Amino acid sequence: MSAATVELEGLASEYRNLTAFHKRRIIVCAGTGCVAGGSRQVLAAFERELTVHGMESETELRFEHEHNAPAVRLSGSGCQGFCQMGPLVRVLPEGIMYIKVKAEDVPEIVENMLEGEGPVERLLYRDPASGALCPTTDDISFYKRQHRMVLASCGQLDPGEVREYVANGGYFAARRAWLEMTAESVCEEMELSGLRGRGGGGFPTGRKWRLTLAQPGPKKYVICNADEGDPGAFMDRSVMEGNPHSVIEGMLIAARAIGADEGYVYVRLEYPLAVERVRKAVADAEREGILGGNVFGSGLPFNIHVMEGAGAFVCGEETALIASIEGRRGMPAPKPPFPAQSGLWGKPTVINNVETLATVPLVIGRGVAEFRGLGTAKSPGTKTFALTGHVVNTGLIEVPLGTTLREIVMEIGGGVTDDQGQPTGEIFKAVQIGGPSGGCLTPENLDLPLDFDSLQGVGAMVGSGGLVVMNNATCMVSVARFFMQFTQNESCGKCVLCREGTKQMLALLDDIIEGRADESTLALLEELAKAVRVGSLCGLGKTAPNPVLSTMRQFRAEYEAHVFQKRCPTGRCKALAAPAIDPALCIGCTACARKCPVGAISGERRAPHRIDPALCIKCGACAAACKFKAISGV
Ligand SMILES: Cc1cc2nc3c(=O)[nH]c(=O)nc-3n(C[C@H](O)[C@H](O)[C@H](O)COP(=O)(O)O)c2cc1C
Ligand code: SF4
Ligand code: SF4
Ligand code: FES
Repeated sequence: MSAATVELEGLASEYRNLTAFHKRRIIVCAGTGCVAGGSRQVLAAFERELTVHGMESETELRFEHEHNAPAVRLSGSGCQGFCQMGPLVRVLPEGIMYIKVKAEDVPEIVENMLEGEGPVERLLYRDPASGALCPTTDDISFYKRQHRMVLASCGQLDPGEVREYVANGGYFAARRAWLEMTAESVCEEMELSGLRGRGGGGFPTGRKWRLTLAQPGPKKYVICNADEGDPGAFMDRSVMEGNPHSVIEGMLIAARAIGADEGYVYVRLEYPLAVERVRKAVADAEREGILGGNVFGSGLPFNIHVMEGAGAFVCGEETALIASIEGRRGMPAPKPPFPAQSGLWGKPTVINNVETLATVPLVIGRGVAEFRGLGTAKSPGTKTFALTGHVVNTGLIEVPLGTTLREIVMEIGGGVTDDQGQPTGEIFKAVQIGGPSGGCLTPENLDLPLDFDSLQGVGAMVGSGGLVVMNNATCMVSVARFFMQFTQNESCGKCVLCREGTKQMLALLDDIIEGRADESTLALLEELAKAVRVGSLCGLGKTAPNPVLSTMRQFRAEYEAHVFQKRCPTGRCKALAAPAIDPALCIGCTACARKCPVGAISGERRAPHRIDPALCIKCGACAAACKFKAISGV
């Protein structure tokens, strides 16, 4: 057994010794969402309250001789997924999960805990459908239906404690790769696993590594793409905040597979917590001899730098990302050569997404068979999604690839809501999947297994994993416009068709939404979309038309109503609004007239009112004020 082999076991047993005397553990979610909701104050309140009860607690593990063995360990964690219910607090060993905890709630939690009175019921999640109390995560449908693999430790581990990661089996897969496997055998295992990149494209990871390994030359790089610019996506951020060592371990294995001695984590600076935790994880791994000049005692080096990107969406594109690290303007370059052939500073480079890298140690550690046991034959494993929009439960979820949309929206998501967040019982109108590069799924796709190939078959894509659920009151033309505005803003300007074409597509969508469109608009929009797709250099421009084409295909009637009848079927497009008062429903209460900011409503008390279309500015205040639902069209 080499000295290095002893080291991981040593770290794990040190962790077990240091935590052996803890009777309890309190985990306060310290992901971005819960921190914003006040979880730091909750953590401080626990520290204070335990002291009041004469109990020492510790947030940093210390050796026994440094204190009187505290019975409670307090720790922060990364995102536990159910951000909507945050700040979340878990109490172990019972596994109780409290939701929406405030600092004022802490004394009651501690008292109940110390007096063995059972959980504080008012802070438990209650199932909205059955009304049943759910004391643990196993009782909550949002968690019950998921299969957490990459996220399994996020929300449990202390992300700042390398020894806890190791005690949970961390870094053993990397050590095996560095000390017991060859570069070829690592590539082979990844190829057999069938793991496909989670950054959007779904390219087979093993094949990418094999291509890079085959390149000549001693200098190669591994880059972790942590740019995550898709609107609404926060999967990669959560992995970095919740389990940063899993990403470093994935990079170590990638480095072994291709023979790299240097790596970069490229993370956007809007993610300060992720940056802080990854930096600390790198420093801790260096201190333990995991990273550095002599990885696991192999005699070989691997060092990681953390670089903050300025947050341009296009910098997530791999060639633009490389340019940005090199200190140039983040603009994509034509491929080939691919980064595997000529990447960072002209050297062969592997670029992988955060989630891909965090999956790698699980594949090597648990074996290909276990990994392939999840997901579908061509899309094995799990995928994280950011579930948002008109759905009861929003948050970060992880499911095997191939899970149906129905299971995600209806079971994990708990069903569709109205604009006020109340469950409606309706089947959704559409799900936008894959962010600005993706497309829409409709109720017809409810039983479609979500995997790389079946989504492509219906003109959508897994993308990075944004899942936005939309109810019947959503205008699909406005949805397409939202994504078009995003890509138009983010175009780097290098290609004429992406730079100018997206601007013109946006103008055409505005014409539709604001009532200026005619028969030629839809045909022109479609033609332009196809030209932008063909004439753009990088994925940003190539996929920018997807949300437009997908909504045009699936919601053609909605587009046509805007164009030919100058009417928005959902009433969302204000310029097309034509407010009118139904005299049969109006009782002449005058509520609308009192609210109208421009005096467009007239009528006697207790007699039906009228709206003067010449004065009306279509603000909708009257419809909102009318209790009798007498005003429509706005
Ligand atoms: C405009 C654009 C933005 C992208 N942004 C990201 C990103 O934020 N994170 C990411 O991992 N991949 C992003 N990608 C995909 C990367 O270029 C690349 O394919 C990916 O990092 C490869 O990793 P994987 O094989 O592990 O998926 C983006 C691509 C394009 C065209
Ligand atoms: S397609 Fe758009 S974002 Fe990509 S290189 Fe061309 S102009 Fe830049
Ligand atoms: S939509 Fe606004 S401006 Fe028009 S009638 Fe109603 S309150 Fe007045
Ligand atoms: S940040 Fe706490 S649950 Fe997501």
